[in-house]
Amino acid sequence: MKELGTQTITTDRLVLRRFSLKDVNDYYEVIQDPQLYEYISYNPCSSLEETREYLTESIHYDDPYYFFWAITLDGKIIGSISATNVNIFNRSIELGYLLFSSYWHHGYMSEAGAAVFKYLQKIGFHKVVAFIQEGNTSSMKLCERLGMHSDGCFEDEILLKDGRYLDLYHYVIIFNEKNEENKA
Ligand SMILES: CC(C)(COP(=O)(O)OP(=O)(O)OC[C@H]1O[C@@H](n2cnc3c(N)ncnc32)[C@H](O)[C@@H]1OP(=O)(O)O)[C@@H](O)C(=O)NCCC(=O)NCCS
Repeated sequence: MKELGTQTITTDRLVLRRFSLKDVNDYYEVIQDPQLYEYISYNPCSSLEETREYLTESIHYDDPYYFFWAITLDGKIIGSISATNVNIFNRSIELGYLLFSSYWHHGYMSEAGAAVFKYLQKIGFHKVVAFIQEGNTSSMKLCERLGMHSDGCFEDEILLKDGRYLDLYHYVIIFNEKNEENKA
């Protein structure tokens, strides 16, 4: 495994780069977007001060297996993408992402995700997983566009405030798919 950590990635339209404390105001603006929280239950930052604390804790880029990018378009932060919960032994990692809703439906997250997958594959990861709440069809479609598939779900995994339970779907992509190897 290559110990590259979070390095800048440039795509056709985007630059994925490390966060810094200079981003507090811009990131706060993004994560206050209420549309982000229909299917994710947590917003860690309800004030600028909490956003500063969150970013201060999040910016530990000296860890070679820590991946957390600001997604920027023409210099403006429009979202974030991360790969966390690394299992170095199994070479697997979990994807997370959010995009300011004004930028939905333009393919930006698909572009960011594809670039991140290429990067993680280059580092030596075998597998990327994502956990998606029942009903989050935009996120499921995104994962499918990125070449992931669902290999099952955890039933009644999430208890909502109104007492309902929702399933949590597990999505996965395996680089160098075994099936491809078998075909050879
Ligand atoms: C999940 C999320 C990032 C998906 O955003 P998105 O805008 O649908 O995804 P993309 O940026 O890849 O855009 C894809 C859409 O743009 C369209 N598109 C336009 N140009 C495109 C291009 N060049 N490439 C790919 N898609 C393109 C696609 O057809 C697709 O359209 P659709 O939304 O009508 O299906 C967004 O809904 C979000 O931030 N949700 C809240 C946070 C969240 O739920 N995170 C995930 C937790 S599991």
